[in-house]
Amino acid sequence: MLEQSLTSLLVTNIAELTTWDTQHPVLTDAAFIVDGGTIAWVGRSHQAPAADAVDDVGGAAVIPGFVDSHSHLVFAGDRSAEFAARMAGEPYRAGGIRTTVTATRAAPDEQLEATIMRLSGEMRRQGTTTVEIKSGYGLTVADETRALALARQFTPETTFLGAHVVPEDTNVDDYVDLVTGPMLEACAPHAKWIDVFCEDGAFDADAARTILAAGIRAGLAPRIHANQLGYGPGVQVACETGAAAADHCTYLTDADVDALANSGVIAGLLPGVEFSTRQPYPNARRLLDAGVTIALATDCNPGTSFTSSMPFCIAVAVRDMRMTVQEAVWSATRGGALSLRRDDIGHLAVGARADYAVLSAPSAAHLAYRPGVPLISRTSQPVLA
Ligand code: NIG
Ligand code: FE
Repeated sequence: MLEQSLTSLLVTNIAELTTWDTQHPVLTDAAFIVDGGTIAWVGRSHQAPAADAVDDVGGAAVIPGFVDSHSHLVFAGDRSAEFAARMAGEPYRAGGIRTTVTATRAAPDEQLEATIMRLSGEMRRQGTTTVEIKSGYGLTVADETRALALARQFTPETTFLGAHVVPEDTNVDDYVDLVTGPMLEACAPHAKWIDVFCEDGAFDADAARTILAAGIRAGLAPRIHANQLGYGPGVQVACETGAAAADHCTYLTDADVDALANSGVIAGLLPGVEFSTRQPYPNARRLLDAGVTIALATDCNPGTSFTSSMPFCIAVAVRDMRMTVQEAVWSATRGGALSLRRDDIGHLAVGARADYAVLSAPSAAHLAYRPGVPLISRTSQPVLA
């Protein structure tokens, strides 16, 4: 495992280095120098200046670490039976979230913490160096606060999703008052983002606007779950609100696509969801052709997408969503960073954080070309579990 230390490190003999730098987005026969945890130099191997230590990767490809901009890792319980029933013909329903809520509320902190540790470890072993983690399976002031406090131990990219679904036997208006009042007040210190599931069976456009506006007043930045299960107002709410991202984007009208293109809101595409709910994949080509910026993410959660693998998402995006390999890898790295409004990660230009993944393959194309194969040999960060 590479340690980030005070001494400089030359990483060299890289067959293909993806930097996303405007001058040389992808370099062959490349090297870079890490100093103080950031990229200090990038170029061809034979031109590399000296450094205190050398890491010869032996002709491997190196990419920026994946930025997984959408996950729900704070949960307990198992919904594999629900998945199996879906594969036998049952439809997905947003109400399945409540099953996980019951199990999560009953779980002790240590159990939830161990789950986050295990899943973020899985992610790291598959090349992810930054992950966003949402609350949303607590739905009480105490349980949502606890979820965010636990998630914060693993990432600064935490999202308050008290508005995931309305809890059983609760009036919607009363719940929106709770989410925008005492729950927000308790959760805001532990969160960077506020999110709402805007969908039939969850929250409508008015509730979503109210919730995001309250979050903004509390100093959180908005993002949204939108247009997952059918056409709806979520994407438009995202664009009106100045959200960083509208995630899912499975069912979009032409007006939705235009709104995304004109507002600069990032479209988060989550192919694991369509895979695991047997829905049609979002039309990435249509979005790209309209000039929309795409982030690819896992949406790792026990209901709709229990994958922690960004390489899996890339493979599906390339095979079934008509993204080129380069577009998919960009969306899983730089696109994810933009979705989180981060300029320091998701690329390996000089000045960026030295968050990277070394592949056991000579090019990033192998991520899609060899689906299901563990191709990440290591990342610049240690695996916690
Ligand atoms: O992103 N869409 C809403 N939330 C999750 C699903 C959660 C669940 O079914 O437990 C999602 O797909
Ligand atoms: Fe989600």
